[in-house]
Amino acid sequence: MSTTDLNGIRIREYQEKDLSKIEKLARNSFNNDMDVFWAVRNLNRSDKVFVAEIRNSIIGVVEIDIIRLSNGIHSQIGYIFVHRMYWRQGVGTLLLQTALRYLEKRNIAGVWAVTSPENIAARRLFRKFNFVEFSDKKVLKRFLSSRDIRKLLRALVYWTGDIILYLKL
Ligand SMILES: CC(C)(COP(=O)(O)OP(=O)(O)OC[C@H]1O[C@@H](n2cnc3c(N)ncnc32)[C@H](O)[C@@H]1OP(=O)(O)O)[C@@H](O)C(=O)NCCC(=O)NCCS
Repeated sequence: MSTTDLNGIRIREYQEKDLSKIEKLARNSFNNDMDVFWAVRNLNRSDKVFVAEIRNSIIGVVEIDIIRLSNGIHSQIGYIFVHRMYWRQGVGTLLLQTALRYLEKRNIAGVWAVTSPENIAARRLFRKFNFVEFSDKKVLKRFLSSRDIRKLLRALVYWTGDIILYLKL
């Protein structure tokens, strides 16, 4: 799967040979080592990863995971990150759009993500696609069993205070 937009940005699937380029990109995009470490570590562990490329340079990544809960198959948008030079130019939008199109074809009940309250860019990006935000994990009790909540929060690597984002597909 590969698509090119009007600005010459190509979205394609991740390949293992991209790893070292993506490590550099993650160092540029995140401002802490922990996120760089996990974003790179998850490349080969995620169920699907798409990259955004312009003239052979990788400028963005989105990592997708499948989470099996008792009421159906759910999904998680794990790390999504873009090179600072390209922030606010629609690359994150293209990556998230690609991820959601991929998931729409796969009978997924809902898509989840977490972010910190301070990450305004990420929150707005998800809101653009109609994700709803929960700032209190107790809200999950309305939809999910305690067992599923535990499984979901573990998969999302949720920390107290995080914002939970959800889109019903
Ligand atoms: C979050 C991130 C991926 C967004 O990528 P991007 O390519 O800049 O996103 P887009 O240009 O498609 O912007 C999408 C929307 O997000 C919002 N947005 C993006 N950057 C913003 C900023 N700096 N301030 C406020 N809103 C912002 C806007 O609403 C924007 O839509 P609009 O331009 O139509 O108004 C990017 O900021 C990033 O890589 N951040 C560091 C890594 C990170 O924190 N990732 C998220 C958690 S894993």
